[in-house]
Amino acid sequence: MKKTNIKDFKKTLSKFTTGVTVVCVKKRGIVHGKTVNSFNSLSLNPPLVLFSLGNYSSSIDTYLKSKFLTINILSKKQQNISDHFSMNDPDPKKIEFFNGKNNTIFIKDCIANLECKLIDKIKKGDHVIFVCKVINLQKNDKLRPLSYFNSKYC
Ligand SMILES: Cc1cc2nc3c(=O)[nH]c(=O)nc-3n(C[C@H](O)[C@H](O)[C@H](O)COP(=O)(O)O)c2cc1C
Repeated sequence: MKKTNIKDFKKTLSKFTTGVTVVCVKKRGIVHGKTVNSFNSLSLNPPLVLFSLGNYSSSIDTYLKSKFLTINILSKKQQNISDHFSMNDPDPKKIEFFNGKNNTIFIKDCIANLECKLIDKIKKGDHVIFVCKVINLQKNDKLRPLSYFNSKYC
């Protein structure tokens, strides 16, 4: 075993395979999206999920101030969307969306979409954990997921 340092910590955690999501919020008509793989289920009853964002992110305030947001679970065919929303200041005009009922916005053709109410924000280390209640959802059983392992899509 090695003593933990940031570089090895990052490389070692990259050995945990995840799916890839894009978290979207709409603020004054403008869509904000961020590629996130720290998404996880938290509770069945009530239905809660969580994800975390770096507090150094250029748009952290937009997410901290949002009441509702969507979590869009990407399919294998949507790697370009993941790349798009991991850019600094992405231009969402290139992506196809549809609207939800709570001033929310979803990405089209995902493997699943969750409409969520933000219920808690917990600051830990250099990240903020967002705890969300899932209020509406849909899934597509025919699509395959986009996965991320060893800092690469797979
Ligand atoms: C596959 C993948 C997963 C990511 N997951 C997260 C995440 O869970 N939390 C996070 O804060 N950033 C995550 N990022 C980084 C953000 O998408 C984005 O690149 C970063 O926040 C820098 O942009 P910003 O300063 O505009 O926020 C991920 C990037 C990729 C490519």
